[in-house]
Amino acid sequence: MITVFREHIMKENITTFIKQFEGYSARETLEMFLKTYKGQVSFSTSFGAEDQVLTDMIFKIDKEVSIFTLDTGRLPQSTYDVMGSTNLKYNRKITVYFPESKDVEKLYYEQGANGFYESVQNRKECCYARKIAPLKRALNGVDIWITGLRAEQSVTREEMRLFEWDEGNALIKFNPLVSWSEKDVWEYIKNNKVPYNALHDKGYPSIGCEPCTRAVKEGEDIRSGRWWWENSRHKECGLHIKDKK
Ligand code: ADX
Ligand code: SF4
Repeated sequence: MITVFREHIMKENITTFIKQFEGYSARETLEMFLKTYKGQVSFSTSFGAEDQVLTDMIFKIDKEVSIFTLDTGRLPQSTYDVMGSTNLKYNRKITVYFPESKDVEKLYYEQGANGFYESVQNRKECCYARKIAPLKRALNGVDIWITGLRAEQSVTREEMRLFEWDEGNALIKFNPLVSWSEKDVWEYIKNNKVPYNALHDKGYPSIGCEPCTRAVKEGEDIRSGRWWWENSRHKECGLHIKDKK
């Protein structure tokens, strides 16, 4: 096993990390990172299939790792169900970040209860208040942000790498499952008896907020059920867009 020396995390680390970790499994890479950068790493979970794989791997390595979720206030009931069963299984209460009440009240007065359907601008403002602003609080002081992103998930994610520099949050994003296929994810879930969101069995490969997520048909793009009324190039809420405000 190779050793990663503890040092201040910078943009320049990326190339070294990519070279160092080539050929290692997600689990091996995670283990090395969690040991070396203890206390500097945080994983964000939406309780989707990929995130459940990572939660299982992470808690098997170290029960103390920081794991958080962003509760937008518009999540499906099944997401709260899997949140509950996950906390129970691993005997940990995953940290929850909520939006600021004043931001949600402002949204309501400016665009009504479901204004996100009316324009991309409205939708982005809703995602900003409910996800991006809480994410900034969650990432305060974090050097390495672990996500469950996979390159195969959509056209907007094809270029994703195992390690990336996130300019907006000034940290390294670490995507351990970047090269995993959907099949790899499901094999892990079944083999390790990992709890998962019941909507995955009802045609929802990707799950976000309840009003902005729907089921997809066989053969359709796996993210086509997210903000389905928008063009696919817009379909990021801003959590994973580089150089955002
Ligand atoms: S999104 O940007 O379209 O919402 P997606 O649902 O594909 O993202 O999830 C990609 C990764 O973003 C997840 O693996 C997770 O790390 C993070 N993520 C997405 N939504 C949330 C959330 N509500 N709370 C915490 N992390 C999230
Ligand atoms: Fe708002 Fe929909 Fe974005 Fe959720 S996904 S924050 S409901 S616009």
